[in-house]
Amino acid sequence: MNIAVFASGRGSNFSAIVKAVKKGGIKANLSLLLSDNPQAPVIGRAKRAGIKVALIKREDFSTKDDFEARIIEHLEENKIDLIVLAGFMRLIGPGLLKKYKGRIINIHPALLPSFKGTQGLKEAFNYGVKLTGVTVHFVDEEIDHGAIILQKAVRIEENDTLETLEAKIHKIEHLLYPEAIRLFTEGKLKLEGRKVGISNP
Ligand code: GRF
Repeated sequence: MNIAVFASGRGSNFSAIVKAVKKGGIKANLSLLLSDNPQAPVIGRAKRAGIKVALIKREDFSTKDDFEARIIEHLEENKIDLIVLAGFMRLIGPGLLKKYKGRIINIHPALLPSFKGTQGLKEAFNYGVKLTGVTVHFVDEEIDHGAIILQKAVRIEENDTLETLEAKIHKIEHLLYPEAIRLFTEGKLKLEGRKVGISNP
């Protein structure tokens, strides 16, 4: 099985996935890092790990369809089976979604369906919830909406700041995402409507 990670930024989740593949926790090839942002630190991480990089900038294409058609070319060329979104700051359009239905996953730094969107972590903190967490889910046509694969709760303590909460959330992400990818690659996830069944985890 061949995996592509899509990322636009820092890439700490990407590195956690690289590590899990190298250690044999995920038995699949991490074949491609695809980014839309030439400044993204994740590109350097991929190069250092010896993973092929595709940089595809939205501004080089007049329409989103053309942009995604180019992405699909790269995915097909590399025989990608699973797309892992790890801080990819673009919405996946209908063409790509249809082609990879049930084969695109995302990680979100809150307990969905609460605190959707790019500021979910901060909004949960500012709202004053006592419990937040991390969600890995399949991607569908709505933002942060697809069927939930795994969730893990994180308690917000009295002395937590946004920074300490971020650190706790990232630590959980780096465990939960490789675990969800392992389950997918081992064929243990069964997507039925909104529900994801997990067999012999
Ligand atoms: C993570 O918090 C993830 O939940 C969100 O984007 C962030 C990416 O962080 N979707 P990194 O680039 O993997 O460090």
